[in-house]
Amino acid sequence: MTTIWEPTTVGKMMLPHRLAMAPMTRSRALHDGTPGPLAADYYAQRASLGLLISEGVQPSDDGQGYLSTPGIYRQEHISGWAAVADAVHAEGGRLVLQLMHVGRTSHPDNTPHHRQPLAPSAIAPGIDMFTASGMQPAPVPRAMTIDDIAQTIADFRHAAASAIQAGADGVEIHAANGYLLHQFLSPNANTRTDDHGGSVENRSRFAIDVATAVAEEIGAERVGIRVSPGLAIGGIDEGDGTRDQYRHLVGALAPLGLAYLHTFQLFDEELLRELRALWPGALLVLRAGRTPETLAQDIDAGIADVVPLGRWALANPDVVTRLRTGASLNDADPATFYGGGAAGYTDYPRLTDHD
Ligand SMILES: Cc1cc2nc3c(=O)[nH]c(=O)nc-3n(C[C@H](O)[C@H](O)[C@H](O)COP(=O)(O)O)c2cc1C
Repeated sequence: MTTIWEPTTVGKMMLPHRLAMAPMTRSRALHDGTPGPLAADYYAQRASLGLLISEGVQPSDDGQGYLSTPGIYRQEHISGWAAVADAVHAEGGRLVLQLMHVGRTSHPDNTPHHRQPLAPSAIAPGIDMFTASGMQPAPVPRAMTIDDIAQTIADFRHAAASAIQAGADGVEIHAANGYLLHQFLSPNANTRTDDHGGSVENRSRFAIDVATAVAEEIGAERVGIRVSPGLAIGGIDEGDGTRDQYRHLVGALAPLGLAYLHTFQLFDEELLRELRALWPGALLVLRAGRTPETLAQDIDAGIADVVPLGRWALANPDVVTRLRTGASLNDADPATFYGGGAAGYTDYPRLTDHD
């Protein structure tokens, strides 16, 4: 039996234990998408988690959906993330940037170019977006042309190269949570009639092409990918084809030799076991509703190699020590999740702060 405290390897990264920090948007970037002044401190504080997956980072102007999220495609972004990577490395951690293109989960008020969002098909997600002037419906997106698809893949490539230039240890491709890659996978968001729509194979093509391009650019061992099979979010409905969809996708990604596959909210135990069997690399499994007592279950059962933590990591810079010693955990405050300054970002207390 493997325990949660044993070391492991993800790609070429040697990790001291099986916990990691899950990607969490914090919306504290500067106006131009450069990580904010407290970002280095925030991530470095959590370096004992070993592997830190960053907040969603847009690979282009088109990729942004929320206010004040960081990018990784301009020189300023690279310099900003370099400071974060240096600070994390100085504390002995590793940093992976989550490349998040939101597709139709956006609003022109929230992007630098204020253009209509891009998506596989011109179908609005039916959700409201937070904007500077309050909540507004996400508009009908523009269906991507073949040129848009090629440009977006090039944007992912450039963003991945920029992340490595900044000193990050790798990137995680966001193919979960209703964003662009998930939109291509889902029959109710992708009604294309070209070779990117219709069949499971065609709907998977974009995600596979993005992963292939990014792996070619920076090396497969520095690339992870996050999926959320069956998750109905952002207007996504995979219908009854979820199992076929992800069997095909994961089967097609497997030969690329990526560092890891990261599943989020996968409630279908049979599918999870199938994906485990199909996937040759490390598997990161994030389930809902965990407790400190159940946290190690997937590791002990040989399902997961690594278990990422979201809100516990957000609210406890020393979450590793706390879990190791059975100490209590600070509660995360949703009021300070997005936007603002140090409050609820870099000021969560450590156990030693109470001495
Ligand atoms: C404030 C906040 C922001 C999040 N932002 C992202 C994100 O940018 N990308 C992503 O894939 N998941 C995001 N998530 C989901 C987390 O990665 C994680 O899957 C979720 O919080 C469940 O894990 P937990 O129960 O340990 O918190 C976010 C969650 C929170 C709480």
